[in-house]
Amino acid sequence: MSTEKKKLAAAEGALDYIQAGDVIGVGTGSTANYFIDALAGIKGKIDGAVASSEATAKRLKNHGIQVLDLNSVPGLPIYVDGADEATSHRHLIKGGGGALTREKIVAGASEKFICIADDTKLVDTLGAFPLPIEVIPMARSHVARQLVKHGGIPELRDGYKTDNGNLILDVHNLTILNPIDKERELNNIAGVVTVGIFALRPADILVLGGESDLQIIQ
Ligand code: A5P
Repeated sequence: MSTEKKKLAAAEGALDYIQAGDVIGVGTGSTANYFIDALAGIKGKIDGAVASSEATAKRLKNHGIQVLDLNSVPGLPIYVDGADEATSHRHLIKGGGGALTREKIVAGASEKFICIADDTKLVDTLGAFPLPIEVIPMARSHVARQLVKHGGIPELRDGYKTDNGNLILDVHNLTILNPIDKERELNNIAGVVTVGIFALRPADILVLGGESDLQIIQ
């Protein structure tokens, strides 16, 4: 089965977790886009969505799904989003699409985080995918120097600005053996807005599209 079909299967699998009247937190990226398209088919069942990026808000609106401000809801029952890497402990690397900060906020505000991906995203150890870190522009060089001290090779994402007006450093050469400690450590560098490790608030359920079936890890 192609990677795209696996992403689609995972996205459609996430619909099973939605209850009538839910406001859904919605992630960003190609797998999340399949989910948004699938969500359009049941839009009468939900009370709206909170978007993790401008791109996602636009796609939701194009489908006629009401987009709500996170500040206008008391919390979210469910958040559905993709990942760049995931372990069987449900720790993730996210931010390949640059939306990591808003994604982490929406994940943090949600009771249940359903991560949807094709099964090639499942890894033993995080870090082969360059770790995205959102950085305040004036701190770019300082943060990059600190990351080198941590053994990383940071690369500025060329010509890219996040929805929050910040920069992304993609950090190569990291083997993340303890994602919880590494998330805390890198988040503590002054000038870092968000690190793309999602371990302090991991996914609750991984829905992985495979060759023939969905793999559920919870
Ligand atoms: C967006 O910033 C990311 O966190 C995405 O969720 C992640 O990059 C997965 O994207 P794809 O579904 O396009 O692989």
